[in-house]
Amino acid sequence: MENYRSSSSSYAPYTLIAAMLSLLVCSAAQTIDGQTNAEFINSDGQTNADFIKSSCKVTRYPRVCFDSLSVYANTIQTSPQRLAQAALSVSLASAQSTKTMMSRLLKGRGMNPREMGALRDCIENIGDSIDEVKKSIEEMSHLSDPDFEFHKENIQTWVSAALTDEDTCTDGFAGNGMNGNVKSAITSRVVNLSHLTSNALALINSLTSTQPTSR
Ligand SMILES: *[C@@H]1O[C@H](CO)[C@@H](O)[C@H](O)[C@H]1NC(C)=O
Repeated sequence: MENYRSSSSSYAPYTLIAAMLSLLVCSAAQTIDGQTNAEFINSDGQTNADFIKSSCKVTRYPRVCFDSLSVYANTIQTSPQRLAQAALSVSLASAQSTKTMMSRLLKGRGMNPREMGALRDCIENIGDSIDEVKKSIEEMSHLSDPDFEFHKENIQTWVSAALTDEDTCTDGFAGNGMNGNVKSAITSRVVNLSHLTSNALALINSLTSTQPTSR
């Protein structure tokens, strides 16, 4: 018994690792489940993926919309609000990684003062965009409140501002005298980001108070 106890305590770290592994396996199983569920036909006769595809038609970049959101089909199901929320989250994640990439570039060498200035401005613009999208995600949770239109307008205002900030960033790099590599690396990422944000805005614009908030 004494032996058993001491050996069991020396195995404790392995027990912990085993528990973590089983958690990982569980979440992997959930992902597989999620993919399976995405194929289920819902009460509207649509799969969750069909719902995303048809909803994305209101956006300016439907292909990007579907590709970036279909991985969340199981969470979104057929809720327009959850779809818009997912679109905001995808935009936020992209803005955050873009800002990180730009901050890293700023520490590197080989940029002239003009490029450094444009890059600094860009980092500030994308930082503002991040704040606005974060506020919008927070505001999404109030769409079930009585004053739907008020909250929707707040979200529209902030997401539009985020889009403007992203455009301001790319405009700052549009001029001559910019290094081709730095310019194209930043511009292509921020243009992609602005497509995600534009899509989120279109999905928000199409929300109505009569849609079910959740299923
Ligand atoms: C921008 O988006 C396109 C299409 O979605 C993709 O092929 C490309 O790799 C993206 N560019 C960057 C820099 O992320």
